[in-house]
Amino acid sequence: MFDWASQKVLVTGAAGFCGAHLCEVLLAKGASVVGFDMRANASESSAYQVETGDLLDLPALCVTIERGGFDVVFHLAAQPIVSLSIEQPIETMQANIVGTYNVCEAIRLSSNPPKLVFASSGAYYGATNASHPISEDEPALSASNIYAPTKAAADLAVRCYARVYGLRAASCRWMNTYGPGDLNWSRVVPATFARAHDGKPGLIAQTDGTNVLEMLHVRDMIEAYLRVAEHLDRPEVRGEAFNFGGGRPLVLRELVARVTRAWNDATGADVPTEPEVRGPKVDSVKYLDISEAKRVLGWEPQIDLDEGLREAARWYAGFWSQ
Ligand SMILES: NC(=O)c1ccc[n+]([C@@H]2O[C@H](COP(=O)([O-])OP(=O)(O)OC[C@H]3O[C@@H](n4cnc5c(N)ncnc54)[C@H](O)[C@@H]3O)[C@@H](O)[C@H]2O)c1
Repeated sequence: MFDWASQKVLVTGAAGFCGAHLCEVLLAKGASVVGFDMRANASESSAYQVETGDLLDLPALCVTIERGGFDVVFHLAAQPIVSLSIEQPIETMQANIVGTYNVCEAIRLSSNPPKLVFASSGAYYGATNASHPISEDEPALSASNIYAPTKAAADLAVRCYARVYGLRAASCRWMNTYGPGDLNWSRVVPATFARAHDGKPGLIAQTDGTNVLEMLHVRDMIEAYLRVAEHLDRPEVRGEAFNFGGGRPLVLRELVARVTRAWNDATGADVPTEPEVRGPKVDSVKYLDISEAKRVLGWEPQIDLDEGLREAARWYAGFWSQ
């Protein structure tokens, strides 16, 4: 049994949606946690500190990692918003590619290199219209958006640092994480809750809602991160990438309806669940084959989508009532 209570952990992106959840779970397991983020400490917990810093400042990152004496670095900090990447391609490339190289480099140069678990993405595979779940062996990247190549390059860089310098590092790929605390309003779940809060049905503006996707609850994702860190000394994990997904693909139109239904269930509202659809038909089918994660790491998603959405709905209702 892996003992997190003996571990000193650095989480980059700790002030973000996934990073904040990860820090809380690590703390609950008894780990000693330090966050790193360019935003000030947004943590609800006083039990860990978020050091304010920029991934692009390599000397400062080297000092943080050398002085910290960490056992594990979870690297989540990034510019993760697709629409913003289209407005700010260079900044996105710098944060996501240069930032990840800097994390790898700071670890490589440290006197006692910690393990590295990297938050990659299903964006690695680009736009797909597959008739099957995508496995890790699928070739990277058909052209899709500006965010995707940044995650693909960083994913590859992390695995190359493992191969070339022997870093104990691996990449985790998934898409569409949801749960309490996500304030990235361009994402479908928070955006749909925001509209439901205003009494409006969900809006699908980019497609006609027939594109297929999958959702992963943030706690399932965190369990995946922990499993990868716990198993990183195994040769079949070190230097590899693993897919994690919700395992139940659905069309966007249905997802948006279920988000609104969860809002109604959680708050007693009566918002129409049928979404307003304005976009064109887009042939996109994208969900991940998680059989390697099951086989090698013993990981499977546990949280039912409707239950997870109702829990998230209660959180957003509380957030807006403050
Ligand atoms: N949420 C998802 O659906 C999803 C899916 C696949 C992959 N991911 C990946 O997971 C990670 C976390 O995503 P999230 O949803 O928590 O995003 P988020 O935007 O909530 O958090 C990212 C954090 O990184 C910080 N950051 C950005 N640039 C930085 C820099 N140069 N230096 C220091 N800090 C910086 C931001 O301040 C922010 O707090 C990202 O790497 C993202 O690409 C997310």
